Amino acid sequence: CRAVPEAPAQRLLDLQAHRGGRGLAPENTLAAFDNAISLGVTTLELDIGLTADGVAVISHDTALNPDHTRDAQGRWLSATGPAIHQLTLAQLKTYDVGRLNPNTQYGQQFTAQVPHDGERIPTLAELFALADRRGAGQINFNIETKVDPTKPAETASPEAITDAILAEARRAGRLPHVTLQSFDWRSLVYAETREPRLWRAWLTSPRTVQDSRWTAGLRLADHGGSVPRLVDAASRRSKGLSIWSPAFGDLQPQQVREAHDLDLKVLPWTVNNPADMARLIDMGVDGLITDYPDRLRALMQER
Ligand code: G3P
Ligand code: CA
Repeated sequence: CRAVPEAPAQRLLDLQAHRGGRGLAPENTLAAFDNAISLGVTTLELDIGLTADGVAVISHDTALNPDHTRDAQGRWLSATGPAIHQLTLAQLKTYDVGRLNPNTQYGQQFTAQVPHDGERIPTLAELFALADRRGAGQINFNIETKVDPTKPAETASPEAITDAILAEARRAGRLPHVTLQSFDWRSLVYAETREPRLWRAWLTSPRTVQDSRWTAGLRLADHGGSVPRLVDAASRRSKGLSIWSPAFGDLQPQQVREAHDLDLKVLPWTVNNPADMARLIDMGVDGLITDYPDRLRALMQER
């Protein structure tokens, strides 16, 4: 008898809301994450810093940013404010990050963003509590250690930030749904020593992958000049790197194939144009990190 041909498997894409989907709601706020959960994303992407009193808070900026920050009197910051790690949580919570500043170039960028006045910089614990309240038990969290090895004084150490992320995720029972991501190779190596089974994603950009301060000594030139070869070396050195997250612009189909041969998932950032989304999906990527999860969801429904 003839075997019945198998139906082609439906490829599941990881739909990641970058900073909670900042194209739609103020970045890295509970309002944005709540909206992303409503849109049915599989993963919330976010950035973590530590306050002066050691609390893991969700902020892309290492210092208060005039592009979207108002003080307790409702005045826009006129310049970069204090560093996150110099403020206590109570001090940080006095600032409003619920609206883009119309006076800055960045503030004019996301025209579809719906303001949520009164939003504060959330803690990671508050995000996990929101996911609990929303019944989002299976949602994933792609959590970046926001450090810059070229400016170490501007943040807490990668080890302290990683420890705080892991502690909160353990407390919330969410560790199996956490990926720790970083451009900073030290964060990923350290995370492995604390949680060997943790999913870890190496973020690369053409700049950081060429700079040994970001790669903690791994050198592209030592490995034949192709990023997947460096990822291969990094993956073997850390025993279980799970994901490679390259900047999407220069990604080539051959690199996606090479990464898959290394058992790495490929999750490019930050892809906002539907034509780019379609091109990358056709290339075989495993998911996309986007400011517009609504656009990606619509595209996936069409295909
Ligand atoms: O997850 C990748 C992406 O978040 C990296 O860029 O600067 O938005 O943190 P950035
Ligand atoms: Ca990020």
